[in-house]
Amino acid sequence: MDQSENTGWQSEAMISLRNLRVSYGEHEILHGISFDVQRGETLVILGGSGSGKSTLLRTLVGLESPTSGEIWLKGKNIAAISAAEMDEIRKKVGMSFQGGALFGSMSVGENVALPLREHTKLEDSTIEIILRLKLDQVGLAGFENYMPSQLSGGMKKRAAVARAMAMDPEILFFDEPSAGLDPIIAAGVDQLILDLKKAFHMTIVVVTHELASAFLIADRMVLIDKGNVVAIGTTAEMRSSTHPRVRQFLDRIAEPEVSQELDYLQMLTEENPRRGF
Ligand SMILES: Nc1ncnc2c1ncn2[C@@H]1O[C@H](COP(=O)(O)OP(=O)(O)O)[C@@H](O)[C@H]1O
Ligand SMILES: [Mg+2]
Repeated sequence: MDQSENTGWQSEAMISLRNLRVSYGEHEILHGISFDVQRGETLVILGGSGSGKSTLLRTLVGLESPTSGEIWLKGKNIAAISAAEMDEIRKKVGMSFQGGALFGSMSVGENVALPLREHTKLEDSTIEIILRLKLDQVGLAGFENYMPSQLSGGMKKRAAVARAMAMDPEILFFDEPSAGLDPIIAAGVDQLILDLKKAFHMTIVVVTHELASAFLIADRMVLIDKGNVVAIGTTAEMRSSTHPRVRQFLDRIAEPEVSQELDYLQMLTEENPRRGF
């Protein structure tokens, strides 16, 4: 890291947000968000539906532009850097979107290879090796020639994670990684995130509204409500928080997860030989 560009508070942080405001047209969604994510930590962003979590992630990866405030990634203010520097930073950031978002017309392998083809001049044979490695890391070894439509929900998520990891990112963003999955498959995705954290010491930011998952994977959590940060702290600090909004969010009765027959069949057919779930 270039120390000359750092001044105090952001020197250790992988991500620093300062008074970030984001609007869609006239409608302001994020009203001044500030927090830091430390190198190697897993931060979970909690909040109800419509509170601005996806908007925040989309802004962090450059898909939305803030109306004001600062985003520092790896000690650089991304509003003040050149396009070339931004490209370099983008290569270090992977994102797994809500819903998976694989390209349906491309095989699983082609989906994973996409960032490598876009950002590198690697030979096809090298790309082939990397994509197999990435699929192996998410428990999908041997699935490179499958089409996304041939994969179950959990496998699609894994493939999307493999694609997010294609460029060996230092920062990985997940938007609702287990949304819409059977609880057992969802637990598998949580475990995958824990494995990635342990194996690669990545800085990971996960948006979720699933509390069990959040407490399992988080080092720290930030609760966002209607575009404002309500609280931030370790899992223990959040658990013992007396903040009324935090209590309301953490103590709400979880909606029962109804496991439909089809989900159950999917679970049975989705065994993972390497990880055993
Ligand atoms: N592309 C968009 N254009 C206009 N409004 C949007 C857009 N995306 C999201 N919104 C609105 O912004 C608010 C926050 O949405 P979002 O960030 O998706 O919340 P969350 O992920 O927490 O559910 C919602 O009111 C949503 O309707
Ligand atoms: Mg969302």
